[in-house]
Amino acid sequence: MFGKKKQKPQIDQEQFALIENAQRRVKQKKGLYIHFVIFLIGAVFLILANTVLGIGKDEKILGLDWFVIAISAWLFFFFYHAFNVFITNKFMGKEWEKAQIEKLVAKQQDKIEILKTTLARPNDSLKITTVKPHKNLTMIVAAGENNEIGKDNDLIWHLRDDLKRFKALTSGHHIIMGRKTFESFPKPLPNRTHVVISRQKDYRVPEGVLVVNSIEDAIDAASSDNQPFIIGGGEIYKQAMPFASKIELTRVHSTFSADTFFPEINMNEWKETDSKVHDNDEQHNHAFSFMTYERK
Ligand SMILES: NC(=O)c1ccc[n+]([C@@H]2O[C@H](COP(=O)([O-])OP(=O)(O)OC[C@H]3O[C@@H](n4cnc5c(N)ncnc54)[C@H](OP(=O)(O)O)[C@@H]3O)[C@@H](O)[C@H]2O)c1
Repeated sequence: MFGKKKQKPQIDQEQFALIENAQRRVKQKKGLYIHFVIFLIGAVFLILANTVLGIGKDEKILGLDWFVIAISAWLFFFFYHAFNVFITNKFMGKEWEKAQIEKLVAKQQDKIEILKTTLARPNDSLKITTVKPHKNLTMIVAAGENNEIGKDNDLIWHLRDDLKRFKALTSGHHIIMGRKTFESFPKPLPNRTHVVISRQKDYRVPEGVLVVNSIEDAIDAASSDNQPFIIGGGEIYKQAMPFASKIELTRVHSTFSADTFFPEINMNEWKETDSKVHDNDEQHNHAFSFMTYERK
């Protein structure tokens, strides 16, 4: 009366796809093996046809016996078949397709972030621009294993050598930050030009500190600098990611309770180019690694 209960599939879609792919590969390799056996039998048959049965004994093509030409052409066709199974399939197969799709999705996500930023500025006319990474814009950040970067508008750790490195890299340059990060400093950092991003039109800052109303304006304000830095926090890292060409990440090898996070680094768009481990010691409660990522 109530009909049959619908059977639930036992394995999920991803497993199905993997099985299908494995079956397809087995079929392709089996086909290649059968081709090889037929080729061997065919080649013997062609040789016998000419030498024993005398078929086309006097036929020559380019000075060669016809069966030599026929076997060579077949061998070429066999290699082409093997090339398709092992090489073309690798480049144009399912894994390759998946990587291409992931790349496209990541690009679309970056574009959506930029559109969200544009829409969040109600006084601006809606202008949609294509995001081009700035050639030397570097994001510098220290993040825990789960991308934790801060809590209650403060850092979660004190790592002397990381602060030293931050100072060495950023000194003499423009440092771009969100209003909240700026307010987490007791006073502006020496020997650096602060560019603070805020939506407030009358945000007051000490002399020498620049205030802008968007990421794009912050990057413009730092255009005289050949190496500007994005120094946080969470909101700004997320929005600035599509503009950056480099990430200097201090990966702190612990997990923390946090309320602010660094966005996930999409490895389809970034490649790791350097990594140095720093063990924990009496000055440093946590081990950490200095990692450099560059846009692919
Ligand atoms: N571990 C690290 O390396 C690191 C580095 C930096 C910061 N942090 C931590 O990160 C936390 C702060 O990060 P957060 O995400 O809370 O704040 P944030 O990114 O520093 O600043 C957010 C503020 O920036 C302004 N803003 C954001 N997007 C904007 C836009 N599109 N246009 C104009 N203004 C914009 C807004 O200011 P208004 O509200 O004034 O409009 C917003 O409230 C703190 O805990 C800090 O210690 C950690």
